[in-house]
Amino acid sequence: MNLKEMAGYKAADEIKDGQVVGLGTGSTTHYFIEKLAWKIKEESLDIMGVPTSYQSFFLARDLNIPLTSLEEHEVDVAVDGADEVDNDLNLIKGGGAAHTLEKIVDYAADRFIVVVDDSKMVDQLGNIPVPLEVMPSALRTIINSLQELGASAQIRMALNKDGPIISDHGNFIVDADFGLLDHPLKLEKELNSIPGVVENGIFSNEVDLVIVAQSQGIKMIKPG
Ligand code: A5P
Repeated sequence: MNLKEMAGYKAADEIKDGQVVGLGTGSTTHYFIEKLAWKIKEESLDIMGVPTSYQSFFLARDLNIPLTSLEEHEVDVAVDGADEVDNDLNLIKGGGAAHTLEKIVDYAADRFIVVVDDSKMVDQLGNIPVPLEVMPSALRTIINSLQELGASAQIRMALNKDGPIISDHGNFIVDADFGLLDHPLKLEKELNSIPGVVENGIFSNEVDLVIVAQSQGIKMIKPG
């Protein structure tokens, strides 16, 4: 079993019958969703999922997980991956351009569980750029604002499509490199105050549990 699989499968143990579950996006939550589908079938559980992207929607639908939305149900627990996790359990997310709906679902959940392999654990966020989902018409003014804040910023280009990546919501993604982040919470708020920024990939102070898979086994980290 690989590390992402270990973390994703372990998170399924945290889910209880009757819960509404936020279904995160990415290669680690892929394993969580797979295991959750298995558990629902084998244990005849009454569980509904709230997807955070087309990726998690398609996967959950193909695995017959009953789905719902934030309009219809409140989320008891969300399980999601991350690109970086710091010592205070702040995150950078959005490597897969899905951080906007991920943040909506993850922040709305009563309990937010993060699943990662140990390569994602860092002392301080910012070894990778911060992704921002931006309205296409605001691209230039947003890049200017990010440069004024000291970042080098660039639009994320697609790999199997000419031109930029287009998010699930029809927007561009800008990756802003600030170097190491001294005040993630402050920057999270600051970035969202730039007109045309839909959402940024800093997730501060919201995590209840991080499940870290390492070669020696699983480590469960709680805040405080
Ligand atoms: C999606 O945009 C991201 O926030 C992912 O949740 C994050 O990149 C983690 O992905 P992996 O589990 O594939 O590393």
